[in-house]
Amino acid sequence: MINLIIFGPPGSGKGTQSDNIVSKYGFHHISTGDIFRNEIKNKTSLGMEVKGIIDDGKLVPDELVLKVLESTLDKCTNHHGIVFDGFPRTRFQAEELKKILNARSTEISIVLSLEVDEEELAHRLMNRNVEMDRTDDTTEIVQKRLKVYHDTTEPLIRYYKGRGIYKAIQGIGTVEEIFGKITYEIDKVI
Ligand code: AP5
Ligand code: MG
Repeated sequence: MINLIIFGPPGSGKGTQSDNIVSKYGFHHISTGDIFRNEIKNKTSLGMEVKGIIDDGKLVPDELVLKVLESTLDKCTNHHGIVFDGFPRTRFQAEELKKILNARSTEISIVLSLEVDEEELAHRLMNRNVEMDRTDDTTEIVQKRLKVYHDTTEPLIRYYKGRGIYKAIQGIGTVEEIFGKITYEIDKVI
């Protein structure tokens, strides 16, 4: 059982590369952002609760994220691998994920961290705003999301480095080039 975290700032390509990983390896993709956007689209009570937070570029409270994560994991059986995308984002989430996986007799195999400079991130998210209409892709909110990433999520790099499972991937280049580096790392752990 492979548990892979695809890590990186907003716009670094986590979702894009997760799709490729799912196609090649048949892993299950868990994107907490996608889950929340789906809840918002379906106007569920959870969706209504998180909409304002996401549109404002802030983080959804840990307790809510973990509840969603656990119920998603409970439904996700018979997979030889899981890609966690956009989760964990706080130290608390990382520690809870460890406990949740340990309780299932498994653990994080590798953290693949996409490294992309800020100028390129802003450029990609502005382009996506035009194409996909994600409500959190405005100039002001993108800057806020990047700040939240630096303040709260980026410190997890140290946390995972300390556990010897962190692998930085140069996230600039074509999607295929980057995916080549990702498969090289995954093939070492499967
Ligand atoms: P989430 O959905 O996780 O968004 P994010 O982390 O901000 O990242 P993005 O989805 O914007 O970017 P990505 O890295 O997936 O890049 P993508 O492949 O799309 O979270 C959204 C919100 O939900 C958060 O702000 C928070 O409010 C809440 N949330 C979610 N999880 C949470 C958690 N765990 N705790 C608390 N709150 C949480 O690529 C971006 C663009 O670039 C695309 O247009 C793509 O086509 C393009 N692109 C990709 N690769 C390349 C390339 N190599 N070259 C050029 N363009 C490329
Ligand atoms: Mg994404």
